[in-house]
Amino acid sequence: MNKDLKRVKELEADIEKYNYYYYVKNESLISDYEYDLLIKELEKLLENNLDYKSRILNKVGSSLEGNKFKKIEHVRPMLSLSNTYNNGDLIDFDKRVKNIIKDEKLEYVVELKYDGVSISIKYENGKLVQGLTRGDGEIGEDVTHNIIEIETIPKYLKNSLNIEVRGEIILPTESFDKINEARKKNGDELFSNARNAASGTLRQIDSSIVKDRKLDCFFYNIINDSDQIDKLKFLNENGFKTGENYTLCKNINEVIKQVEYWQEKRLSLPYETDGLVVKVNSFKLQNILGNTTKSPRWAIAYKFPTKQATTKLLGVTFQVGRTGVITPVAELEEVSLSGSIIRRASLYNFDEIRKKDIKIGDRVIIEKGGEIIPKVIMPIIEERNGNEKEIVELENCPSCNEKLIKSDTNITLICENINCYEKLIRKIEYFVSRDAMNIIGLGSKVIKKLIDLDKIKEIYDIYNLKEYREELYEIDKMGEKSISNLLKNIELSKNNDYSKVLFSLGIPFVGKYTANILAIYSKSIDNLKNLSYEELQNIEGVGDKIAKSIIDYFKNKNNLVIIERLMEHNIKFSLEEDENNKHNISIINNNFYEKTFLITGTLKQYKRKEAEDLIEKNGGKNANSVNKKLDYLVVGESPGSKLNKANELGIKIITEEDFIQLLK
Ligand code: IVH
Repeated sequence: MNKDLKRVKELEADIEKYNYYYYVKNESLISDYEYDLLIKELEKLLENNLDYKSRILNKVGSSLEGNKFKKIEHVRPMLSLSNTYNNGDLIDFDKRVKNIIKDEKLEYVVELKYDGVSISIKYENGKLVQGLTRGDGEIGEDVTHNIIEIETIPKYLKNSLNIEVRGEIILPTESFDKINEARKKNGDELFSNARNAASGTLRQIDSSIVKDRKLDCFFYNIINDSDQIDKLKFLNENGFKTGENYTLCKNINEVIKQVEYWQEKRLSLPYETDGLVVKVNSFKLQNILGNTTKSPRWAIAYKFPTKQATTKLLGVTFQVGRTGVITPVAELEEVSLSGSIIRRASLYNFDEIRKKDIKIGDRVIIEKGGEIIPKVIMPIIEERNGNEKEIVELENCPSCNEKLIKSDTNITLICENINCYEKLIRKIEYFVSRDAMNIIGLGSKVIKKLIDLDKIKEIYDIYNLKEYREELYEIDKMGEKSISNLLKNIELSKNNDYSKVLFSLGIPFVGKYTANILAIYSKSIDNLKNLSYEELQNIEGVGDKIAKSIIDYFKNKNNLVIIERLMEHNIKFSLEEDENNKHNISIINNNFYEKTFLITGTLKQYKRKEAEDLIEKNGGKNANSVNKKLDYLVVGESPGSKLNKANELGIKIITEEDFIQLLK
């Protein structure tokens, strides 16, 4: 086979893999820059193999796998943009444009390139009726149910317009950090950056997750024949967020000035941008320039340099997590990266280390995206001098020396010693954290000291601390007041309800939301303990992984002892009587769980009271009036003024038939 073609096939296979991870699994295996290098290499090779029809290059990218959402064709394809990385590339772009457009006044609009997920939203008679993801560019996925939950997207326009607008759904940095902090506490996998979190959120079936996560949206296009600057003004005037950050430039030099300005300035924005988009302003000229199959010739993206740095890998240390999972951590020669000093970075697991062929002594590329912890991207193999050392896979726990075992997937190493020091520290930290038992005053230093003093050997020992008041004075900076407060907070934590207690036990994969569902479903820990794998799996929101984890948790005798001891301290392991009665929940239905309903007008199948009882039985709440917090207005015959008010506030309005569907 021709050598070029062999490489083409290799590149296609790699790019396809990266596309799959990026578009379907919301994970970037390589940086955008590295990705673009592969695309450029492929393009170059194909110039010499014109007969070869690449299955990659004409595709925008696809997130259409799976049948989660309805597939709908876009009225106009959603194209992508070609990328540039320096001023020279921008000047070349200007030249290409001028080769086609001669003797015409040429202006550019420079906008921020929001780092999120593109969306196309349709309004009919001024009402939001559809939201589609880009999908493969031709066909998108219907995520209207989630778009409606994004506060800043107008549900009704002030004029009764029929329009389609396009923009980027993003997750502001503050919300992203909060979500990841909570996921860390829950023991859930972290989102690697805000874009992945936004994309993952938008593709949720359960729209209440969207509501909680505070997504936002910036709009940059309306499908009509106006110049770009007028489109932005129109969007702005009609209630769409465009951001103030766009500029009309008279020539490419002014564009380059914008690039220089945003290089630094973007770091102070409350959301992530990965570059700028430069667009020819005139709609007429855009039409003359036209599009390639993949991207318009009248626009280009300028990508900011990624926040990467190279440094030396000095060694590897190991962290022991609360469930015993061992994480290798890269100890690095100090390096400055987007304003912070980096000394450590995550190496995830040994599988990653082997795949990337990372050795101690290597010069490595590290990258900091939106994520909290920087990561090691890859070693620079060419810079090796032969003195680099293999990273030896651990056999024993770095904290307690117990022999480590491999996880089912063979990827992670786990310490199973119940008395492991590090594990115990992490376990207690988790148990007392805010979303768990919320015991203020028991910080990491105090926990360590109490473990060293032999006062805490398991979580339940926290509730015996009142007997060691004197010893507590031995702890640095602990005086009368802080000790009294701590002991008071420990006692107060006994008021936490069953669902919080369940979460605090730290059963792997049982986060706050799952703990809530499990608590309501099981009503008590004794019931939960006796549920079979099949029964657990049948609970909404509990899949194979969680069901197995719960079964394993209760199989372990030590865990049963922990529960028993905590019970002796009057920790709540069942739903409170009144709470139970209040909801009288027989089945958990995600369509109703924690959602508020209000009925207006006369229903055909149910009396008002019957319908309200059904709402409560399914885990929902009945509201008294229409307000912003209302999730659904159920409309029967001859509805009252509530319908108008709900319309004004953009509340979801459903018919009796829709209501019956939700019940199913
Ligand atoms: S214009 C054909 N403007 O970047 C025109 N796109 O890499 C393409 N994006 O798919 C859209 N901010 O998801 C445009 N101000 C902006 C943008 C923007 C972010 C995204 C969009 C697009 C991707 C292309």
